[in-house]
Amino acid sequence: MDSLSEGIISQLAGARSLVVFTGAGMSAESGVPTFRDAQTGLWARYEPSDLATPEAFARDPALVWQWYAWRRELVAGVEPNAGHQALATWQTRVKAFTVVTQNVDGLHQRAGSDRVLELHGNLHRIICSSEGMEVRDPLPPVAEGGPPRCPQCAAPLRPDVVWFGEALPERAWEGAMQAAARAEVLLSVGTSGLVHPAAGIPLLALQHGAVVVEINPEPTPLSHQVTASVRGTAAQVLPALVERLAPR
Ligand code: OAD
Repeated sequence: MDSLSEGIISQLAGARSLVVFTGAGMSAESGVPTFRDAQTGLWARYEPSDLATPEAFARDPALVWQWYAWRRELVAGVEPNAGHQALATWQTRVKAFTVVTQNVDGLHQRAGSDRVLELHGNLHRIICSSEGMEVRDPLPPVAEGGPPRCPQCAAPLRPDVVWFGEALPERAWEGAMQAAARAEVLLSVGTSGLVHPAAGIPLLALQHGAVVVEINPEPTPLSHQVTASVRGTAAQVLPALVERLAPR
């Protein structure tokens, strides 16, 4: 965080509209693997991009259903980390504070962030793969390991997440673009910045004159375009930053 100049610190401190754009790295210190980490155990032999597609679900609904069931179980067993909590604290001090996340784990909301736009959905919400409406617990029984069937139309159920080749949820996407265009400051935390259209959000803020700060232990394609790029992790840098910006 020392790489942030006093000028940038004061712009962060004075921001009335702020967006935090997050990716899988935001949840890494909670114990949730990123898309770049080798998928542990059972899933090591699959590429996420081979499982997160409508074609994979059509080809092998049981495999895709079980992969998301494994991810749901993993997330249920972890806690939001200090980075998620720092954002929930920070939002209480800023007039317009929006978290725009690519993550589907719901950890921002569990930490107390209440304006969270989920660009790629949420793996805890289950929907009918044919009609799209949410099917709440208790889910119908699962036949031979495959996805449960919709109680209305008997189509397989699926997680309410965006798969490769699918459109982003309209309201979340519109809201994210609006927030990015109005932001005085945008932080990009824990994302490789490779998956569009989501990865365009920090660039949109830059084009509208925002101060854009990246937080990532590694460089990304965004690193040379942003106002400042901090080499560090979400759970280390965000609490230190929120502490530094705390009103004296
Ligand atoms: P990636 O796995 O592509 O990138 C994770 C980023 O987090 C990398 O740049 C890491 O360097 C960084 N990172 C790792 N540990 C970190 C930590 N402790 N603190 C901060 N950063 C850390 O994940 P995303 O960029 O989120 O989309 O991937 C974007 C999208 O690609 C995902 O939403 C998903 C995936 O396919 C869909 O499934 C549609």
